[in-house]
Amino acid sequence: MPAQVRLHQILDWNSPQQNARLCQELASGLSQPQARIAPKFFYDPLGSRLFEAITELPEYYLTRSEAAIFSAHLPAIRNALGAGFTFIDLGCGSCGKAGALFHAGVLPARYVAVDISVDFLRDSLQHLQRELPAIEMVGVGLDFTDELKLPDDLPPERRMFFYPGSSIGNFDPPEAREFLRRLAGQMDASGGLLIGVDLIKDKALLDAAYDDALGVTAAFNRNLLRHVNARLGADFEIGDWRHVAFYNAGDKRIEMYLEARRALAAAWPGAGGRQFRHFADGERIHTENSYKYSPEDFSALLASAGFADIRLWTDPRAWFALFFARKAE
Ligand code: AVJ
Repeated sequence: MPAQVRLHQILDWNSPQQNARLCQELASGLSQPQARIAPKFFYDPLGSRLFEAITELPEYYLTRSEAAIFSAHLPAIRNALGAGFTFIDLGCGSCGKAGALFHAGVLPARYVAVDISVDFLRDSLQHLQRELPAIEMVGVGLDFTDELKLPDDLPPERRMFFYPGSSIGNFDPPEAREFLRRLAGQMDASGGLLIGVDLIKDKALLDAAYDDALGVTAAFNRNLLRHVNARLGADFEIGDWRHVAFYNAGDKRIEMYLEARRALAAAWPGAGGRQFRHFADGERIHTENSYKYSPEDFSALLASAGFADIRLWTDPRAWFALFFARKAE
């Protein structure tokens, strides 16, 4: 009989209170002079699947480069993590990366899978638990960018946080430092952090990775409006919006927008009835920043956030880096 995984549903995106809060956040973002929608809204069920598809694109080198680092440096990574550790996977998605590590013999005592997309998480974790019954697994449905609230019964020793895929790039550097500081605050001296970071490289390569020929990233970006229509009761016409993504070398980040193809209006429910906003032809909604780092800059960021014994591995082209660090004494 397959074991039933334990689920800590700290966040339920569909509970009335959470939904009201998220709707307020959406409405407020859409009303700013520079309209914006936070990237966490990408990950509705379809969005999570579109992101999985992005990772298969020839232009999206990040996932493959990171996987190549894992397979090339497996003994060193296993050594860094040690034995009997608790593996805390932040934004586990389909749990594919952790699963690959476990199957390659990097075996924790306990696996804590954290993701904002609770339904996606439940199915993925259930599947993994069947394959690996010896690992104690718990799923946590949580927006850990808000507050990283771990289950109360989690042992404080040997907590190894896993934050792969360069998701740290969604924070601007000061926010990233604050987030990493909070992670350091959740571990004792036996803990550590294994984190993937996308590196600065040629603009053409970066541009292509976020504006692929097949249009999957465009679909991922435009799906935001479907999610917003469903959640907020807005009336965005998906066909009116164009995907825009480019590397801004001055600010070392990919910027992603949805751009109005013509002058238009959109509406959504507000406190005092329906709320309208006009968008000029070419006006943009900001949907994501994805910061890129040099190895030196990210090492310095880790050090300033309370980490020490910092080491890193890269793929042969040095397009991506995997860092391991311990909490500073
Ligand atoms: C999940 C934030 C790492 O920035 O590369 C992929 C998301 N956005 N294509 C990234 C994303 C557009 C991705 N992260």
